[in-house]
Order: sequence, then structure tokens, then C-alpha cells
Amino acid sequence: MNSTAQKILVEKAKTSKINQVDFDNLSFGSVFSDHMLVCDYRNGAWETPKIMPYQPISLEPSAKIFHYGQSIFEGMKAYKDGNNDIFLFRPLDNFKRLNISAKRMAIPELPEAYFMEGLTTLLELDKDWIPQTAGSSLYIRPFIFASGKGFHASPADEYKFIIATAPSGSYFAGKVQVLIEETYSRSANGGVGFAKAGGNYAGQFYPTQLAVKKGYNQVIWTDDNTHEYIEEAGAMNIFVRIGDTLMTGPTSDRILDGITRKSILEIAKDEGIATEVRKITVTEVVEAAKNGTLKEMFGAGTAAVVSPISTFGYRNTDYDLPELSDSYASRLKKRITDIQYNRAEDPFGWRFKV
Ligand code: PLP
Ligand code: COI
Repeated sequence: MNSTAQKILVEKAKTSKINQVDFDNLSFGSVFSDHMLVCDYRNGAWETPKIMPYQPISLEPSAKIFHYGQSIFEGMKAYKDGNNDIFLFRPLDNFKRLNISAKRMAIPELPEAYFMEGLTTLLELDKDWIPQTAGSSLYIRPFIFASGKGFHASPADEYKFIIATAPSGSYFAGKVQVLIEETYSRSANGGVGFAKAGGNYAGQFYPTQLAVKKGYNQVIWTDDNTHEYIEEAGAMNIFVRIGDTLMTGPTSDRILDGITRKSILEIAKDEGIATEVRKITVTEVVEAAKNGTLKEMFGAGTAAVVSPISTFGYRNTDYDLPELSDSYASRLKKRITDIQYNRAEDPFGWRFKV
């Protein structure tokens, strides 16, 4: 560790909550580890990060986060192998994306050392919270929001960067059923869809609630202009397999540049799977479902890993996907998780030992 890390202040929790946690029955992101990292931006600079017991924070009612939604986040995971070694997956990509989101939301960018050394120091302190049960990991939520006060609709002068962590199991409990959305949009050209801005998610809740009432778990977002192109699935990038070709849409202003997405594309190529990054139309997916060439659809993201879609709904008709014994989804999920949990070689150099 270099001098920056030594500056991180650490206040340890007096008692640990770890014995209250049932590590064999973890849900997603609902119990939190003993510590969190907090770093304030004041007077034009990020101050020294502090690690402290996980606890509520106090804010002014006029803090701009409450009014203007100036808030961004990241989603990452820490994995533990059989030797109790701890790994992250492409963490610098999350750091870079946090600053891409920051720039778009007029939030001051964070120095790399604060992110990386803050995170690794926090993980070393809370390493017992990283589950070793199959399919579980420590979900990491770095976020920045406007803590500065004032009703004036302009960027705040103060911000908080926090990292909180939560031992977590699967994001989806079972099969994922999705509804292709044609009324509401998640994002638009020139908008903030490519940023991990909190408001992007708030805007999805209502259309998703409507889909849930109809029996689906998630919405498949289509482009805001024509609703003819498949873009994302809830908080996941989406992959479609027609015949033996695996496809996903190109990233754009409207789509989050997912780290799982780009990793899956590289692994698929390595596996000899034909891949295409191109606009995918709803018409061709429906047509392929009807003529039997639609083999798979799956979502990809940090929280959801690779989540196969069992059914998609479109204009009041449900289309079921076949259950394949050797699906691309299962092959690709195994390859990516074997790298993440240090169960296999990592020819790509993605694994980061803490
Ligand atoms: N798309 C959206 C809207 C997301 O929220 C996420 C989750 O982070 C993803 C895609 C997947 O991105 P990543 O693989 O980097 O987690
Ligand atoms: C992630 O995959 O890490 C995400 O950020 C999704 C989240 C909204 C649960």
C-alpha cells in the first residue's frame, strides 16, 4: 500500500453483527457488513476517506440529492476462493464508469486511489463478510450523491462518496420472465441512459410494476424512438441467440456499457461462439420465436450474473424459450464465474487479487 492508503482513517466497529447473518440463506443486498467508507467533497476537493461502522447518515432537508436527484452508483462484487483469498472483477472498469457517470451528472470526479485503496482497505477489514457459499458474494455498492444544501436547481457544492457492502445471494429467485415494453422508455438519445444515475432506476419502477402485475419479472426496454430495437432488460444488458449466433445491441447514449456484457462477448469469442454486436429488432426476435430459431435470451450484469429468460411477452402473447441442456448461457456463466471465484485460469487478466 502506498501513502494514500495510509491516510485512510479507520474507526472499527465495537461489536460485529456477523453472527446475526445466515450465510446459507442470503437474499440480495438486504444485510450490510460492519463497515462503510465515507469520503466528503467540500471546498472544491475530495477529503481524506474514512472507514467507520455502517450507520445512518444525517443530511439537510435541502440536500440536493432529495430534490434534483444528483446521484450515481456502481455495482461490484468481491469473491472468496477456497483459500480465503479475495478477488474483484475488473474493478478499474467500475471506477472509470463511476467517473463517466459523475461527469454526465455534473458531480466532481473521484481520484482513482480513493476508490481503489478505499475499497481494498474496506474489504480487508470486512473480509469475513465475503460469503463462501456457492453462488454468493459480497455485493459492493459505491455511490456518490449531492449532500450540499439549497433549493437552487444547480449542482451542489458538497458531495458524499460512500462504499457500503452486503453479503448477497442470487438476484433473481427463479426463472426470468420479461415483457417487451412499447409505451415507456428508459432512456433517450442525449439523455443519461449510459450513466449509472439513480434516477434511471426510479424511472423504471412504475413500468416494471405494471409488468409485474401482469406476471413478469422485468421489462425489456426498446429504443424510445421506434420501440423496434431491443436495448436492455431491467438492470441487465440483454443477449439473444438466434440459431447459433449470439447477439447483443451496440452501446449508445441509451445503454449502460456493462462490464459483464463486454466480458461475455470476449468469452464467447474465445469459446468459438459466433457473436454479433448489432441492433436487434423486436420483429426478428418474435419471428425467430415463431419459427423455432430463437434458442436463448439472457440478461447479463454484476448483480444478476447471467440470467436466462424463460418467457418473453409481446403484444399480449407469451413466447416460451426452449430449455437447452448445453446452453450458451450456462457455458458462459460457468466461464465467467470460474474466473471471478478463482476456479480457473484467467487468460484475459480480469481478476484482481485484493
Ligand atoms: N444495464 C443496466 C441498466 C444496469 O443497471 C446494469 C448493472 O450494473 C447493467 C446493464 C450491467 O452492467 P454490469 O455488467 O457492469 O454490472
Ligand atoms: C448491478 O448489476 O450491479 C446493478 O447495479 C444492478 C442493480 C440495480 C441491482
